[in-house]
Amino acid sequence: MRAASPPDLSGRHLLLGVTGSIAAYKAAPLVRLFRTAGAEVRVLMTPDAERFVSPLTLGTLSEHEVLTKIFPENEDGAWTKHVTLGEWADLFVVAPATAQTIAKLAHGFCDSMLTATALSARCPLLVCPAMDREMYRHRTTQDNLKRLREIGYDVLPAAHGELASGLEGQGRLPEPETIRDRAATMLADRTAPEEAEPSPRSLAGTHVLVTAGPTQEPFDPVRVLTNRSTGTMGYALAAAAARRGAEVTLVTGPTALEPPAGVDDVVRVETAEEMHEAVQARRDTVGLVLMAAAVADYTPAEPSDSKRKKDAGDLTLRLRRTPDILKTLGEHKHDAQTLVGFALETDDGPDNARRKLSDKNLDWIVLNNPTEEGAGFGPSTNRVTLIGRDGTEEALPLMSKTALADALLDRVTPPSAAVSSP
Ligand code: C5P
Repeated sequence: MRAASPPDLSGRHLLLGVTGSIAAYKAAPLVRLFRTAGAEVRVLMTPDAERFVSPLTLGTLSEHEVLTKIFPENEDGAWTKHVTLGEWADLFVVAPATAQTIAKLAHGFCDSMLTATALSARCPLLVCPAMDREMYRHRTTQDNLKRLREIGYDVLPAAHGELASGLEGQGRLPEPETIRDRAATMLADRTAPEEAEPSPRSLAGTHVLVTAGPTQEPFDPVRVLTNRSTGTMGYALAAAAARRGAEVTLVTGPTALEPPAGVDDVVRVETAEEMHEAVQARRDTVGLVLMAAAVADYTPAEPSDSKRKKDAGDLTLRLRRTPDILKTLGEHKHDAQTLVGFALETDDGPDNARRKLSDKNLDWIVLNNPTEEGAGFGPSTNRVTLIGRDGTEEALPLMSKTALADALLDRVTPPSAAVSSP
């Protein structure tokens, strides 16, 4: 698989706020990643963060003094730095963000250089929580995160995995590369060309269901049949719909991606059958369905309860068809619903796509060819042709999956969704 090239952050001013979590050690590689991408970085720390990582380390990596106190002992006039830094920054990233700092940010406290600068900053803020599982789950933390989103902050959900306490669960700081990429996306979104469409169609009041990623079909307890889908396109669509104010449900097969900001209903599934159940359970309430998942067409007919031994020599698997999730939606489609399918075709693309559009009773089908350079599974770019029920056909240029998600939503959002009440 081709590795995506790192983003270009040349000339960007990034403020990194580090708080007192064990994950503060990841601030060091994060500063390096930002700097390698070309950004200028200034670091602010809360006093507790200094217990986990030294200001000298972050100061050396960023090549700038690290500020902690709003009233430093030895610097005349330094107390106004929260204002100048807030003006200087193109983006303020708080990583890791503890429950304590999240609470302070949500309620306007400004008792350190970090919190005071957050309140002064005019740039977008990205908050990356990291804490123990129960603290993250706690209603107070979740309410504070919700408040931050309402204020307009972007929140990168904590990752799942092993936590410092020894517990397993959600609470880990996402990897520095994930944070860097989210920061790059936020900056790219801010520099959309001046001539770009000024106001994308709103999806406020619309329930949007997006499926993403591959499915995994087990043939014994440890082995699965799957495909190379990474989920990038579906996650980009879910993020774009959330930015437009939709209530988004993301039904996702196994991927390495973090759920996008603003997507509160994330349903994790493994098999096509599980995806089918999750989707059909919501079909009466959703207004727009974007079926970007690469659903397996076949599943082993007789999965074994125990691991199959290789001693028996060659193995023949009998496969049976999985349910066609989108076709079932098409059979139950209601008037106020728009169905969008994705077709991955290597041969006779337009003909096959048009046939699927009609067989599955879709409104739109997005055709892509995985053999084309920069398209299909894996790369962060895609080139598609959008075919409509009304016979329209539009070949879109090669673009990032983030930009493509917006281009697709601009075209498939029904006019009624644009005027529906928030
Ligand atoms: O028929 P084909 O698999 O090419 O159709 C692609 C579209 O149908 C995609 O949107 C895919 O998510 C969806 N699909 C489905 N259930 C299946 C297979 C594909 O919903 N079992």
